[in-house]
Amino acid sequence: MGVGAVQRRETATPPAPGTRAGLIERLAAQTAEREHASLRRRLRTIEHAEGPWLESDGRRLLGFCSNDYLGLAQHPQLIAALKRAADDEGVGSGSAHLVCGHRREHAQLEEALAEWTGRERALLFSTGYMANLGTMQALLARGDICVQDKLNHACLLDGAQLAGAELKRYPHADIEAAARQLASRPGAAALLASDGVFSMDGDVAPLARLAALCARENATLMVDDAHGLGVLGADGAGSVAAASLGQREVPVLMATLGKALGCSGAFVAGSAALIDGLLQFARPYIYTTAMPPALAAAACTAVELARRDGWRRDKLQALIARFRADAAQLGLPLLDSPSAIQPLLLGDAQAALNAAQALERHGLLVTAIRPPTVPQGQARLRITLSAAHEDEHVDRLLDALATLPRGGSAGRPV
Ligand SMILES: Cc1ncc(COP(=O)(O)O)c(C=O)c1O
Repeated sequence: MGVGAVQRRETATPPAPGTRAGLIERLAAQTAEREHASLRRRLRTIEHAEGPWLESDGRRLLGFCSNDYLGLAQHPQLIAALKRAADDEGVGSGSAHLVCGHRREHAQLEEALAEWTGRERALLFSTGYMANLGTMQALLARGDICVQDKLNHACLLDGAQLAGAELKRYPHADIEAAARQLASRPGAAALLASDGVFSMDGDVAPLARLAALCARENATLMVDDAHGLGVLGADGAGSVAAASLGQREVPVLMATLGKALGCSGAFVAGSAALIDGLLQFARPYIYTTAMPPALAAAACTAVELARRDGWRRDKLQALIARFRADAAQLGLPLLDSPSAIQPLLLGDAQAALNAAQALERHGLLVTAIRPPTVPQGQARLRITLSAAHEDEHVDRLLDALATLPRGGSAGRPV
């Protein structure tokens, strides 16, 4: 999940002087505050998934909230690759990459990812969160600055803070403000990090202008393309390739395997010097068990299919166009997004929850995204489309959206 806000939590009620706060009691009080503000998060168990259909609480719901943008998560070839590798190699990798966990399947996947993204080398991480933490922690030191878009994903923000660099944020996609942040510490080593496609808004970062700024200011550009890989670019190589930027302009490219590729895990791609350095210094790479080799085998098949099946991207684009055109007819307050992420801004957290519940009554699952994942007053339905959807699914969603109350209090689009 993305986040626009750096989370800082205050002590709920200060303890009496000389009394030590009970940590779990304090946490419980903070959870109760969230409940009160309609911001409490709840887990839902999905009993079964079949394409875009999800079963939960004994009901079959049509889902519009998964990141399986190309519809690969249940592809028979991925399943076969996973089974084959599990038959041959077992389940767990047994250790960290640098001990004896780095298997042939990992090496093959790294080669395929480097080739696809046009980078010298790639390095696998178990999750995107770890990839961003590890990369920033290896690259940055105290005294450096890390300049970031305010709507960057939580793990980029956390990465800069954990690395001890000074985090300097700029208003969303505002290049001049980014330039001012870089200019504020001209002597400091600088990393400028941006989502390629913003996870909660769906828009694409001004990558060419960010690259030009970094070249001018001698800053290193890092792009997190979790939501662009597989979806954008001629053969799905992502938002950076779509902007015709190579390794020189974007020396640090990170993307995940758990979204359009339908698997799990992540990678960083770049020069041999970058990858060698990460191998030495990225603690979330070094001190953790390598992902199961069977998962790497499935991801390798996903890369082949994502590159080859241009029809999946074409179908997704056609569904996006259909949805946007009809939503505009209905006057729905969609954000301006060309990607599979089509957020419907509702403003108030309770309004977003009400809208999600109303859709569920129509047999649709769309999650309400509320602060702190998005800024205050910008709660929304994060609608996502996938090549696994059909035209009639999109029409069904639009029919249900058209019934949401307007002009009343709860559920009113702003
Ligand atoms: C932009 C972005 N970066 C990184 C991540 C984290 O990736 P992972 O789920 O593999 O930890 C996500 C979402 O999960 C994301 O949306």
